Amino acid sequence: MDLKKLNKDDPLDRMAEKSADTEGMSPMDPPDAYSPPSTEDVAYDTMHPFLQELMDDHKRLIAQMTTFEEALQQIQTSGLSNETGQTLRNSFQFFEENFVVHNRKEEVGFFPLLKRRLIERGEHGTTAERKTGVDVMQNDHTRAVQLAAVACSFFGLAVRLPDEQSRMLTLSGAVQQSKDLIEHVRLHIFREETILFGFANNHFSAEELDQFQTSVETETGKPA
Ligand SMILES: [Fe+2]
Ligand SMILES: [Fe+2]
Repeated sequence: MDLKKLNKDDPLDRMAEKSADTEGMSPMDPPDAYSPPSTEDVAYDTMHPFLQELMDDHKRLIAQMTTFEEALQQIQTSGLSNETGQTLRNSFQFFEENFVVHNRKEEVGFFPLLKRRLIERGEHGTTAERKTGVDVMQNDHTRAVQLAAVACSFFGLAVRLPDEQSRMLTLSGAVQQSKDLIEHVRLHIFREETILFGFANNHFSAEELDQFQTSVETETGKPA
């Protein structure tokens, strides 16, 4: 993985600059994709249960992405098999059933307040829209769903193509889209956990976080 290229291409640099009237480097403008300043670093054990629940979702998603990635490597070395085909189906199904639900937990209430707090503290872009890291995370959600849809349809197409060369080319495209998806999701989760969740834990009241937890419980019908 080319982290320098990833960082260069990343919209975070373009969208989440710290406002011009504040000094120092913004935690939303990291010098390297996986090396952000850890100014709001908070250990899992001291996170509010609502944030722990989001991190537990992340852990399950990362585990599925790792299984998915192993299947992609097998496809690259040995081609598609019944076993790897089943892993692909399970991975896309898991993503479809869990990723959007998880995103709703973040986007309903939590992200809007997070955005307000970031703006209050000057952690926003210099344009009139005052974009923050929350805008980047929301765009990430959309992008991940798009990547998954394209990868899934490429795999579906690849197995139906009668011409071998076309099939191999489409399969290769599907694998690449899938790898982009995995890297995209990993970086997204890394940023939420190392920057935004710590910020929320430090700058939201316990009552505010309790409310988000209650909303999730109400919406999903089960404890957050
Ligand atoms: Fe997210
Ligand atoms: Fe998340």
